[in-house]
Amino acid sequence: MCGIVAYVGPRDAQPILLDALGRLEYRGYDSAGLAILNGHGVQVRKKSGRIEELAKACRAKPVEGRSGISHTRWATHGAPTDANAHPHLDASGKLALVHNGVIENYLELKDRLAKAGHKFASDTDTEILAHLVGDCFSQNQEKGEVRLIEAVRKALKQVQGTLGIAVIHSDLPGLVVGARRGSPLVIGVGNGENFLASDTQALAPYTNRVVILQDQEIVALHADRFEVASPLGQKADVRVEEIENGVTASDKGPHPHFMLKEIHEQAETVRNAFRGRLDADEATAKLGGLNLSSEDLRRVERIFVLGCGTALHAGMVGKYLIETLAKIPVDTQHASEFRYGDSPVHEKTLFFAVSQSGETADTLGALREAKRRGFRCLGICNNVSSTIARESDGGVYMHAGPEIGVAATKSFTSQVVIFTLLGLLLGRQRSLSAAHGREILEALDKLPDQILALLQESASIQRAATAYAKARSMLFLGRLANFPIALEGALKMKEVTYIHAEGYPSAELKHGVIALIDKETPSVLIATQDGVYDKNLGSLQEIKARGGPVLAVAHGDDAKVAGLADVVFRVPRTHELVQPILNVIPLQLFSYHMAVTLGRDVDKPRNLAKSVTVE
Ligand code: F6R
Repeated sequence: MCGIVAYVGPRDAQPILLDALGRLEYRGYDSAGLAILNGHGVQVRKKSGRIEELAKACRAKPVEGRSGISHTRWATHGAPTDANAHPHLDASGKLALVHNGVIENYLELKDRLAKAGHKFASDTDTEILAHLVGDCFSQNQEKGEVRLIEAVRKALKQVQGTLGIAVIHSDLPGLVVGARRGSPLVIGVGNGENFLASDTQALAPYTNRVVILQDQEIVALHADRFEVASPLGQKADVRVEEIENGVTASDKGPHPHFMLKEIHEQAETVRNAFRGRLDADEATAKLGGLNLSSEDLRRVERIFVLGCGTALHAGMVGKYLIETLAKIPVDTQHASEFRYGDSPVHEKTLFFAVSQSGETADTLGALREAKRRGFRCLGICNNVSSTIARESDGGVYMHAGPEIGVAATKSFTSQVVIFTLLGLLLGRQRSLSAAHGREILEALDKLPDQILALLQESASIQRAATAYAKARSMLFLGRLANFPIALEGALKMKEVTYIHAEGYPSAELKHGVIALIDKETPSVLIATQDGVYDKNLGSLQEIKARGGPVLAVAHGDDAKVAGLADVVFRVPRTHELVQPILNVIPLQLFSYHMAVTLGRDVDKPRNLAKSVTVE
């Protein structure tokens, strides 16, 4: 999704901005631009397409200057053209602005500004905001930097929607004003230079000292200082935090793509998700970050899990785990549906918001809605400094390290591990026996080695990918806890290959989906030996009887499935409740190898963004 980087300091801004924008590429974007102040007004360069196009334009016509703002845009209002790329200028041409988010009342504002004689050069909501701030600036009587800060404050009062912005004005060189409402923004604190960015990844080579702006705050950034103020203009307290250095393209190691690297990291990330959280003596899990006493946890009668995409699929596996281990009824809902719906919720419900990035607008909105209704809401996040992590009443971190590939992989398995721990903890406070609890602990402990063994199957999965890459449509089928794994397999396939894929509970086949089966439509069936194994074998036969190719996820020693399926993705055997974590990995590898075979942009699939910070 859109990215912002701004710089003020003694160095040439252009190379810094281009480099830092490159570090945000993983988020997904379709155009990029920058604006630099150099004593000759605001110099803007912007281009649709990759950052390399912008870099070419900058090489052809370089801009010198020591302060500037830049942006990667993921189109919402208006196509991804040069004209719609950010930065946008105000009517005077002296003020430039970049923006993440959506201005909901932009049509109304546009109408008002147009009536006052403003002319617009783009179809974007952002240009309207630039004109509005410019208008407030020209009407303000204040002098110096206060004039721009107050103009931003006044303009934002008229705006509805989400935003993170950075603004410069040619009358005020050496100043960048930033503001956030809903969209994240951090200050990067350097030595004699300062940065503003929507994502700490952008700052990796420049500084590891950051200040996370709170919602509604405004910052005035200079080379040697910065001041953060509340929406009412009072000086805000700031806390400089040290963060781990971000990931760079060279961190792919021997892997050609981040997606493959992250799939391979799962032996380690799964271990990180349970490290220090297993209590062998009590046959339970320890999750101190929940901020809930054993008594609080015993009083929980219902659980509600909110998330989007892959995170919701993890929650759906979580439902199965918690209901089985702890016998607590669990609802799962798309965060986007919950936040505007009327779902009645039992008063003794504990909410979980699941989000790798911790910045997903729909999940954040749903979390706020649950909290507004008075419920305790916990987060399951990877990004520890994210808004969801900070606004939750407690939670569990994934400790999976940065996930750069747009398609979520390692975060999913970490989330499922965390739900297993939750099921275990809640179960052991209820009727789950120590013996059963111990079985789960032992299964978790063995997972990393089993994942390493499973990853050895990559070559055979690659061969299957070559054989099936021409498919135009695919089905993914599984039952119970493996139904969300089927959904996740289908989502991965759609995202990175652009092949149409659907996930269904296997038994739903005969209720309509079976009409799609033909020899051109492969079905991926999850058929590891569990309570519904025979039922899955029945589905396998139904598909084969209609000429459909079947690729089955099955235990390595399963001769029955091997005799029936066209291809078998072999997985090690583990406890039935832990098995989904292993079953998803061949599906991740399969979609990865299909995407590579098809020549897709694996880490940055078209139209997608890593962190979806708009509704
Ligand atoms: C799928 C994918 C998305 C995200 C979803 C939620 O590969 O990446 O479906 O899972 O946008 O993102 P987070 O977890 O950051 O809230």
